[in-house]
Amino acid sequence: MHAAQGEPLEGLPEVELAADGRELPRRRRARLDARRLRPLQHEERDSGRRDRGRYELPLAVPSEKRHGRHGSLSPMRVLVTGGAGFIGSHFVRRLAAAGDEVVVLDKLTYAGNQANLDAVEHEFRRGDIADADVVAEAAAGCDAIVNFAAETHVDRSILGPADFILTDVLGTQVLLDHARHHGLRHLQVSTDEVYGDIEPNAPAATEESPLRASSPYSASKAGGDLQVLAYVRTYGVDALITRGANTYGPRQYPEKFLPLFITNALDGEHLPVYGDGRQRREWLHVEDHCAGIELALREGRAGEVYNVGGQERENMEVVRRILDLTRGSPDLVRHVADRPGHDRRYAVDSSKLRALGWSPKHSFDAGGLAGTVDWYRANREWWEPIKSGDYRAYYEQQYAARLGA
Ligand SMILES: NC(=O)c1ccc[n+]([C@@H]2O[C@H](COP(=O)([O-])OP(=O)(O)OC[C@H]3O[C@@H](n4cnc5c(N)ncnc54)[C@H](O)[C@@H]3O)[C@@H](O)[C@H]2O)c1
Repeated sequence: MHAAQGEPLEGLPEVELAADGRELPRRRRARLDARRLRPLQHEERDSGRRDRGRYELPLAVPSEKRHGRHGSLSPMRVLVTGGAGFIGSHFVRRLAAAGDEVVVLDKLTYAGNQANLDAVEHEFRRGDIADADVVAEAAAGCDAIVNFAAETHVDRSILGPADFILTDVLGTQVLLDHARHHGLRHLQVSTDEVYGDIEPNAPAATEESPLRASSPYSASKAGGDLQVLAYVRTYGVDALITRGANTYGPRQYPEKFLPLFITNALDGEHLPVYGDGRQRREWLHVEDHCAGIELALREGRAGEVYNVGGQERENMEVVRRILDLTRGSPDLVRHVADRPGHDRRYAVDSSKLRALGWSPKHSFDAGGLAGTVDWYRANREWWEPIKSGDYRAYYEQQYAARLGA
């Protein structure tokens, strides 16, 4: 006997006892019941079928919890790792507003900022996702993990890749182990960069496209993704992946292209454009990205990957728009030595997530970029201290020689 995905769990015993005779808390009990109702069969694991979507993997989080935003009153308790960073903090806001309980685990590296979570209801724990004890403590009582924690800047990965492997690969594996042993759903927040360079007129990457990571950053993210899929296949862990495009919006650390150029333009500083600036990226508003992640968390299937795409633009086009919006002089633009191994184009096909019900609400040209510029203009107190601190040393190392300063 087993319940299909989405069906209520009926006919379950009222009480679930732990090995030592204690009654397990209701949330954990429901998860264990769901697992017992649908054990993963060996022949399914070993059948070698390529279409993972046909696996009926056990549901770690009962459907009445996962569907919270879509009608149920039963909140989830979610561990959001990296929740003090750019996208993670928007996601925490979103879940808290939906009535879910959120625990944030964040190491607070240079990119983490607890102020990003001001006035948002959550529990905060400082720690490393690669530390199993820290993860166990933070994840106690949670139904799901959403993993944003990562070293995320390509240029820093070129200067020193080791931390990227430790967090993006090993840290992911530690979280997966916890999900495996405690029956949590794991959603891995990944990136379109794992597909590598897409030829100028080639179709956008689908979830089936090969992984051809180019930078130490994207290679470490691809390593994390492969661990996720291996844990699904080998251990039946209820895990899935989203691969988002270049994300923009308020509170992005100003080393990344968009906030770097916006804040430099607002201060009348040079805009160091890598190479000819003809690289193409898809731009995805952070709220649209978080909506896609939330939908995948609640409705996505274990073992699946969901692309979250944006609007494709050439970098020089974006630079010109930033100069218009900040009333900056075109003389600020400096073409500097390109990043080694720099991908020319990223493009992803998001039709799979759209079929689940996702559609972006923000247009890059009609309000998305302008609203972001307005935010940086109005919130100097957020980014000025960052740009005058340790960041300065990094900026000098990365750009001083290139700018001939
Ligand atoms: N920014 C983008 O354009 C983009 C696009 C697609 C996917 N992603 C992915 O989304 C996620 C979040 O990206 P972001 O731009 O918000 O990053 P970010 O650099 O702003 O934030 C990363 C957060 O992770 C924390 N962190 C780093 N190492 C940790 C560790 N070992 N343990 C616990 N916390 C740790 C940092 O303190 C920080 O708060 C990343 O996994 C990234 O790969 C980002």
